[in-house]
Amino acid sequence: MSKKIKRVLAIETSCDDTSVSVVEADGRVLSLLSADQDLVHKPFGGIVPEIASRNHTMTLLPLLQKTLEQANLGWSDIDGIVVTARPGLIGSLLVGVITAKTLSLSFDKLLLGVNHLEGHLLAPFLKDDEYAPPENFGYPYVALAVSGGHTQFYLVKGVGQYEVIGRTLDDAAGEAFDKFAKLLGLGFPGGVQVDKLAQQGDASAYQFPRALIHEDTLNTSFSGLKTAAHNQLKKMAPEEIEERKADLCASYQQAIVDALMAKLKKAVKKHKMRRAILTGGVSANSGLRQAAQAWASKAGVELVVPPIRYCTVNAAMIGRAGVLRMNQGERSDQTLSPQARSLESDFISGRSR
Ligand code: KG4
Repeated sequence: MSKKIKRVLAIETSCDDTSVSVVEADGRVLSLLSADQDLVHKPFGGIVPEIASRNHTMTLLPLLQKTLEQANLGWSDIDGIVVTARPGLIGSLLVGVITAKTLSLSFDKLLLGVNHLEGHLLAPFLKDDEYAPPENFGYPYVALAVSGGHTQFYLVKGVGQYEVIGRTLDDAAGEAFDKFAKLLGLGFPGGVQVDKLAQQGDASAYQFPRALIHEDTLNTSFSGLKTAAHNQLKKMAPEEIEERKADLCASYQQAIVDALMAKLKKAVKKHKMRRAILTGGVSANSGLRQAAQAWASKAGVELVVPPIRYCTVNAAMIGRAGVLRMNQGERSDQTLSPQARSLESDFISGRSR
């Protein structure tokens, strides 16, 4: 039998955040450091892939060093290296994968490439001095993974047992937030700005569409919402838009929250689940958190929304997924290469972008 892996160093560079973490086999996060590139991409109103990968090359090694120092550990304390190998921006993933392979060779450490989405699905089980999952929380559960690049519903039945039960047919919810923020000139990334303004606005001021909410499917669609918002703003004078910004944000956010909540409720009911999680950057949204928590307590569903540091892009969740898989005997070798998309075999059914 292979040796039990006690502790891994994890690297995440799938998009524009560089993140490194040291995670123990039981999910305890010993250190987690991340560097975003928001200021670098801000002038372009979105992520520029070439700039993202170039920044990872400059940030990753110093961050690795600091993460080990923060955990008060050296290379001899690390049993394996886990890296996000897919899905994501290929140039960004490449920086993480090549670094992980080099470290694995140089320090003679085990290596494993994992799927970024698997990290999100297992994030509730991370723990630190301020957060621990509810005591009896376990599989199976419904997961809504909602970020700038993904909006998917899963049935999580165990490690490696992820069934895709619904997905966006077009834009991700985070993308819908970011595009609306861009239309309003709120800056990048815009989700958090829309959220802030929405808290001061009237969510019933404008009517935006909630696509597919009455359909039997667990799929979502946000492209019509974006077009409706664009048309609404075209009808308004710049001064009126400025004056009604908070109402516009509140109404737009409510449309996204309603669309996601309709499918979350449907997913839990259809699959007869009593547990659910929210994960991904958009799960930081105050409207979504409140709506999900209110529904869960009324419906008697055990809902876990991990702290924001474990919901947004972070290497701790990658370490968690990797250490579990390594302890099941999984390994990558030096042929590990990044992939822009998930592999068919990463999920039980369907494909996950
Ligand atoms: O998971 P994440 O950090 O990165 C990936 O996309 O993988 O998610 C980022 C997304 C962005 O679209 C951002 O605007 C959105 O999450 N976001 C929010 C909030 N905070 C972050 N959207 C709505 N409300 C928020 N409070």
